[in-house]
Amino acid sequence: MTSGWSRRSIVLSFALVALLAFFAWRFLRPMNIFVVSEAFERPVPTGSIPASLGSLSAKKCAACHQSIYDEWSTTIHSQAWTDPYYQVDWVFDGRQQICNNCHIPLDRKQEHLVVGFEDREKWRPILKPNPDFDPQLQHEGVTCAACHFRDGEILGVSGGEGAPHPVRKVADSNEMCRRCHVVGGDRWDTFYRLPPCGTIVEIQSTQPGAASGTAPGCVQCHMPLTERTIVAGGAARAVRMHLWRGGHDPAAVKKGLSVTLEEMPRSPRDGRSFALTITNIGAAHYLPTGTPDRHLTVSIRLLDQKGAVLRETEHVLSRVIMWRPFIVDLWDSRLPRGEPRVYRFEYAADDYPDAVAIEATVRYHLLAESRRKRIDYENVDPIAYDVYRTRITVNSPREK
Ligand code: HEC
Ligand code: HEC
Ligand code: HEC
Ligand code: HEC
Ligand code: HEC
Repeated sequence: MTSGWSRRSIVLSFALVALLAFFAWRFLRPMNIFVVSEAFERPVPTGSIPASLGSLSAKKCAACHQSIYDEWSTTIHSQAWTDPYYQVDWVFDGRQQICNNCHIPLDRKQEHLVVGFEDREKWRPILKPNPDFDPQLQHEGVTCAACHFRDGEILGVSGGEGAPHPVRKVADSNEMCRRCHVVGGDRWDTFYRLPPCGTIVEIQSTQPGAASGTAPGCVQCHMPLTERTIVAGGAARAVRMHLWRGGHDPAAVKKGLSVTLEEMPRSPRDGRSFALTITNIGAAHYLPTGTPDRHLTVSIRLLDQKGAVLRETEHVLSRVIMWRPFIVDLWDSRLPRGEPRVYRFEYAADDYPDAVAIEATVRYHLLAESRRKRIDYENVDPIAYDVYRTRITVNSPREK
């Protein structure tokens, strides 16, 4: 009897210790938030550079494609390595090689070559020094060749009549975005509805027509059409500008949103009721999209004559994920395309005799202040900005 009981308690305590150890491991293990897929497990090989090019530097391409170079230089793609937020985050995350396969995707941009993997999940690459490492090319981030160069050829949409370099025609240029703008999250311990940075999946899940097969359109919005030559002296034609705009550009975010604030009909008990309506009218994906750091805040305030806040409500539009012990999508209050979101603000006029105005602001945040502090990112550029601000005058203070 006693010995049976103690055997059970031994088994139980083993189970308990094992369970505790499992959870401790879940809290300590490296935070691998996505699945490393074949598409980006290694940098792009650049063994065979055509003699007509000699180098893969954007400056080389600029010799003939100057206006495209000028546009690219203004974009975050050209800063995907030097970007101070990336630099700090990369070091905070333990300088993992895998990150660089998207941020500096050509093998020559990386100090080490990936010659194999120690683990099945490919988070621990076997590295050896890279004799062709080119630090200057590294500083170009997502350079021209990152999208255009494959197996000694330049990928293009029209077949490259008259180009001095070999050209391979691609049927759908949106495929060029897919390599980096979709990361999978399908693993036994992740419960994502959308994979992290799941811009492509966001489009596919909200627009049935865009599902499967070809990639949904990205260039149609992110590379505006214009009419010009692509090399000096060539014939003018419709070409796409190399201007990828997103969270780093207030104008791009504003273009994606419609916001209105209006007063609703009065309720009988002299209450006042306002409605702020915010709609994603310009982005095929969620707004915001990309890294789960990105979020919007909507705040509505009741002010007195001096501008002091009498009452305030704030709403956060973000994607909230529990990272440990398991990765679970908790909620997602970002804006899917075309679905208006309404935030009400109500008060009883008698309670706020000094109220003179309602003010509403919508702010875009590249990352949260708490995260900025945690990873010790000393930003020069602000990490948040207003995209909308308006004021409605309510009755001036009531006559006494
Ligand atoms: C010596 C001049 C020169 C250099 C250097 C050069 N190109 Fe070109 N490229 C051309 C010419 C000429 C064309 C054809 C123009 C036309 O079709 O009107 C062309 C066409 C292209 C096309 C369009 C292909 C198509 O048909 O869709 C792409 C893409 C391209 N180049 C990318 C690059 C990249 C990337 C680099 C740098 C790695 C580069 N080029 C360097 C001259 C150059
Ligand atoms: C080689 C990988 C790679 C490819 C291919 C790629 N991107 Fe990117 N893209 C990135 C990275 C990395 C960033 C973020 C850089 C940073 O903020 O440090 C980015 C950022 C962006 C942004 C955000 C701009 C901002 O203000 O934050 C947009 C928009 C974008 N890419 C669109 C595209 C489109 C459209 C394509 C296809 C034509 C494409 N990208 C292809 C890696 C890539
Ligand atoms: C993020 C990916 C990306 C990067 C980086 C990039 N391009 Fe492109 N480029 C594209 C796509 C996509 C197209 C085709 C757009 C379309 O469908 O017409 C294109 C088109 C072109 C064309 C053909 C123009 C036309 O519309 O026919 C040239 C030339 C070109 N790129 C040169 C460059 C040069 C030079 C650089 C660097 C300064 C560069 N690209 C950087 C994605 C990229
Ligand atoms: C109908 C137009 C439209 C289409 C199609 C579209 N986008 Fe966007 N995208 C926008 C607008 C507008 C913004 C700015 C608002 C924002 O940041 O969400 C944006 C922002 C972004 C950003 C910035 C995210 C960040 O972190 O700053 C990325 C990355 C991006 N888009 C990638 C893509 C990719 C990849 C595709 C194709 C799968 C695509 N977009 C298709 C309109 C579009
Ligand atoms: C599959 C390609 C891919 C991999 C792998 C990847 N990134 Fe990115 N990263 C992107 C793209 C695309 C963007 C821009 C779009 C967005 O907002 O998601 C981006 C954006 C970022 C940003 C935001 C930059 C800014 O200016 O706001 C940071 C920080 C970042 N990545 C860090 C990392 C780190 C650290 C790793 C490795 C753990 C990593 N990335 C791995 C593709 C990738």
